[in-house]
Amino acid sequence: MHNFTYYTPTKVVFGRGAEDQVGRLLQEQKAQKVLLHYGGGSAERSGLLSKVRAAMTGTGIAYVELGGVVPNPRLSLVYEGIELAKREKVDFILVVGGGSVIDSAKAIGYGVASGGDVWDFYEHTRVATGCLPIGAVLTLSAAGSEMSCGSVITKDEGGVKRAYDDDLSRPKFALMNPELTMTLPDYQTACGCTDILMHTMERYFTSGGNMKLTDSLAEALMRTVMENAHILKKEPANYDARAEIMWASSLSHNGLTGCGNNGGDFSTHMLEHELGGLYDVAHGAGLAAMWGSWARYVYRDCLNRFVKFAHNVMGVSGGGSDEEVALKGIEAMEDFFRSIGMPTSLKELGVNPTEEELKKMAAMCSAAAGGRQGSAKVLEEEDMLKIYRMAAER
Ligand code: NZQ
Ligand code: ZN
Repeated sequence: MHNFTYYTPTKVVFGRGAEDQVGRLLQEQKAQKVLLHYGGGSAERSGLLSKVRAAMTGTGIAYVELGGVVPNPRLSLVYEGIELAKREKVDFILVVGGGSVIDSAKAIGYGVASGGDVWDFYEHTRVATGCLPIGAVLTLSAAGSEMSCGSVITKDEGGVKRAYDDDLSRPKFALMNPELTMTLPDYQTACGCTDILMHTMERYFTSGGNMKLTDSLAEALMRTVMENAHILKKEPANYDARAEIMWASSLSHNGLTGCGNNGGDFSTHMLEHELGGLYDVAHGAGLAAMWGSWARYVYRDCLNRFVKFAHNVMGVSGGGSDEEVALKGIEAMEDFFRSIGMPTSLKELGVNPTEEELKKMAAMCSAAAGGRQGSAKVLEEEDMLKIYRMAAER
């Protein structure tokens, strides 16, 4: 077992009507001037934004607005937000949306409180010294950004998608009403379930020490997400299933399912970020398209974890060698992805890169990782290229 630090400062208000508490929580945070940050229209159409505006007006909290965050949120809007927040002397950012809006808010928060060019943090040439406080009304269960230290931003020129992790940006509060996710298209629900699973799988497939309690929590989380993803496929308005998935999204990426592991593998995420940056695919779908190829490339180096996963998560039973059992577990997970409409190859994702493009992605992925990535198996550029090729050829 590895030593660990577990830090989850986010106050969670969960359940029906959670968003009604937004005014009270902003007051609790002593917010004076809020930047209301949101996406492309879903929160306006559902009436949620009107409700949030009314709550702020009702509690006498001044605010300015910046909408228009897109999936794979762009640096250009972050710069705009930084200028606006400085000009308006904003002291709190309130998000209404999913992972992309929260990540954009975190970047704006760093830009205002740390100064300089915010992209430096995402290029890892500088470390942030501050971040404006952030609160979120969550509308999508997926990225876990409502409790995580992560933020992922795409630079408009060249489609460079990069992550920056820093505890400074962990949200002060998250208001989570599962009902708010019922307007999601089925595809986004499935992408979200995939991302939630992957955040725990990235922490599960590690070599070296592990912790039994963490493994049990992780396995239960993964089984719960798969079970409820199937329920939501048939009954998108099932509140309890929405609630299970929403809470799983936060717990899967707030650090809980990695305690005692050696920090996680996260290669599938790194490989996906290049797809998201260059082809603007939905994050969850990109992960599903890459995972099977990654798993087949690395499983022999992390066999005991893949066997455990096959038995305890995917319910693989019967005999066979460890390798056979591990492969059955991988196949079962890919069957699950297909069963919820997720791709398991680049073709199914709708992306057909040339060999040159595959090489470019491998080079960019390796550069982003500082040359090497992974724990189940440490990958270098050449390994990344092989995995991209596997995903392209399937
Ligand atoms: O812009 P609107 O109109 O709101 O539409 C959004 C968007 O098109 C829509 N949506 C959100 N809530 C909705 C809704 N549509 C109907 N009803 C609702 N209630 O969903 C679409 C996708 O939204 P987005 O925020 O992009 O999705 P998600 O939460 O999956 O976030 C994905 C981003 O998070 C990053 C990903 O890389 C990607 O850029 N990640 C962030 C992490 C973190 N900060 O810790 C970790 C993750 O691994 C991930 O990398
Ligand atoms: Zn993710």
